[in-house]
Amino acid sequence: MSVYEYEQKNTPIPVWIDLDTGVDDAVALMAACALEKRGKLCIRGVSAVSGNAPLERTFENTRNVLSLCGRPDIPVYAGASRPLVEEPVYAAYVHGEDGLSGIILETSSAQKESEKAWDALYRCALECDGELELILTGPETNAAIAFMKYPQLKSMIRRILVMGGADIGGNITATGEFNIYADPHAAQVVLQTGLPIVMCGLDVTMKAVVKGEQVRELEKRRSKAAPFFKVSMKMVNIFMKGSLGDTCTVHDACPVLFAVWPQLFSGTICGVNVETRGKLTKGQTVTDWDTDNKFPLRNVYLVRDVDQDKFSEALVELLM
Ligand code: RIB
Ligand code: CA
Repeated sequence: MSVYEYEQKNTPIPVWIDLDTGVDDAVALMAACALEKRGKLCIRGVSAVSGNAPLERTFENTRNVLSLCGRPDIPVYAGASRPLVEEPVYAAYVHGEDGLSGIILETSSAQKESEKAWDALYRCALECDGELELILTGPETNAAIAFMKYPQLKSMIRRILVMGGADIGGNITATGEFNIYADPHAAQVVLQTGLPIVMCGLDVTMKAVVKGEQVRELEKRRSKAAPFFKVSMKMVNIFMKGSLGDTCTVHDACPVLFAVWPQLFSGTICGVNVETRGKLTKGQTVTDWDTDNKFPLRNVYLVRDVDQDKFSEALVELLM
């Protein structure tokens, strides 16, 4: 049984979720909380990284989304306020300056954790006996720092599920998907751990959309997730000049749903490396799945397709 296949589990999967909470990160976190309620996941810790917005915002947004979900008890740790090497880039054009496109949330009353994300992640991995899975939905800076500071960490992580990269072309540049482009060096460090990595890039996340009628149903049912879908539809359609029509992308929900229902997706094992220097191609995820010239390290499951109806029905049902 490969780590990429569905496995009937009687115990919840222990996960650490690292986000740059933004609008679709918020939906991913709400879905993870719903999956924990169903005994599918055990959220052992959450951390925030600079990405869609500066760290101060993504940290607050992450805390406040968990509080909205009734889970202020889940600890949130602040991580990196900038990429390993590159200057910070933000995605205010999609997520607004505040990271949540103006959605106002009640401020979490949870205590503010002072431990850094990478230290807390390592401490958590020590407690999980090799079963901990990482879900990364922003730039991979925190994970990279954790693997560099604690070389033994890679022997304690079962697999990594990321939203990031693209074999089909980028969204912030012609070749760069935002999460990888924002910190290409960090993404390369994570890839080079040799751990099994499920890569949910734009190849699949641009197909994993929720229909407008489903968003309106969430709104009718007064789902807490409805405002996030609504604002995402508005902002993304402006950014993509209406090309998405009456649908909504939720990139970051893909690795969360893959963790429990991999059978909704399909893909291929390959090697992936990140271009960190190219004038035109910095941040590109270069894959070897369709070439003869194979990379020596082939530890990535490149997710390339999804059953769109089953994905959207499963996600919407979780968020009702
Ligand atoms: O390219 C999409 C990714 O960039 C998502 O994770 C979104 O939240 C932004 O971080
Ligand atoms: Ca994100």
